[in-house]
Amino acid sequence: MLNGFIVRSLTNIECIILLIDLSCSFFCSNYYTHDRLQGKVALITGGASGIGESAARLFSRHGAKVVIADIQDDLGQSVCKELSNPTSASFVHCNVTSEKDVENAINVAVAKYGKLDIMFNNAGIVGEAKPNILDNDKTEFEKILNVNVVGAFLGTKHAARVMIPAGNGSIITTASVCSTVGGVASHAYTSSKHAVVGLARNAAVELGKYGIRVNCVSPYLVATPLAKDFFRLDDDGASGVYSNLKGKVLNPEDVAEAALYLASEESKYVSGHNLLIDGGFTIVNPAFGIF
Ligand SMILES: NC(=O)c1ccc[n+]([C@@H]2O[C@H](COP(=O)([O-])OP(=O)(O)OC[C@H]3O[C@@H](n4cnc5c(N)ncnc54)[C@H](O)[C@@H]3O)[C@@H](O)[C@H]2O)c1
Repeated sequence: MLNGFIVRSLTNIECIILLIDLSCSFFCSNYYTHDRLQGKVALITGGASGIGESAARLFSRHGAKVVIADIQDDLGQSVCKELSNPTSASFVHCNVTSEKDVENAINVAVAKYGKLDIMFNNAGIVGEAKPNILDNDKTEFEKILNVNVVGAFLGTKHAARVMIPAGNGSIITTASVCSTVGGVASHAYTSSKHAVVGLARNAAVELGKYGIRVNCVSPYLVATPLAKDFFRLDDDGASGVYSNLKGKVLNPEDVAEAALYLASEESKYVSGHNLLIDGGFTIVNPAFGIF
């Protein structure tokens, strides 16, 4: 009786509106529930700690099969066990400065899960805070460039090797606010983060013809072991550091959310982009501020 009443009372236009409304709620609920990487395979370098660890947890919650590649074996293995879907997660020892290791990590992902959809070049080191260039030695400079730049190059190269035949893929590199401004970290670190953005742009141009997207995420200060060592911060230390955006603190999870966007189909036409997650830090010169 009630059904008959509803069917008789709805005009064609009302039916169309109802259908649109129902499909919107379906797609929106899918967007907000945890399946944005369903069926995808992701490899995360530096996934044992900090931003990489958060990305591993988030990607796994969104249905991805995750391979963590790191030099911290015990930590990497324990993170794998804690992921939403531990049966679809693996750890592989990988020093990103070694081409053999990176090649092997990608081969492990493909052998275990059949393909590689997402490569997250996230491993990085910051080195010591030596503000005077005269105290900076060549070996230390090369060490930082080796991990941060050569590591990202090898990850991009070997991901492309398996993504090109598939005609699809998303490569993401963690750069930093130091990719756009000077004076925030050492010469080596700042140079390395400028360099990875250049690498991502060049690779985005080359690999676009294969349907592969290449982007960077560039966080401001996140209180991970790397940043706490460099800035000598305690657990809450980052909240006291200058920020343009008051009342909010950047967490590893916020950077992982940005990487999730670049990894997922929601960003299907975004390539060659450097996504700053900095609360506006890099677009203001506080010394000249009028606000
Ligand atoms: N924390 C910040 O404030 C901040 C800001 C901007 C950018 N970043 C960048 O974020 C990325 C992740 O750093 P994090 O802050 O999460 O630090 P983190 O120290 O918590 O994590 C870095 C991870 O990289 C791994 N790693 C280091 N060298 C490696 C190598 N040679 N091969 C493989 N893995 C290696 C470490 O074992 C560690 O698990 C880095 O690229 C860093 O430069 C960090």
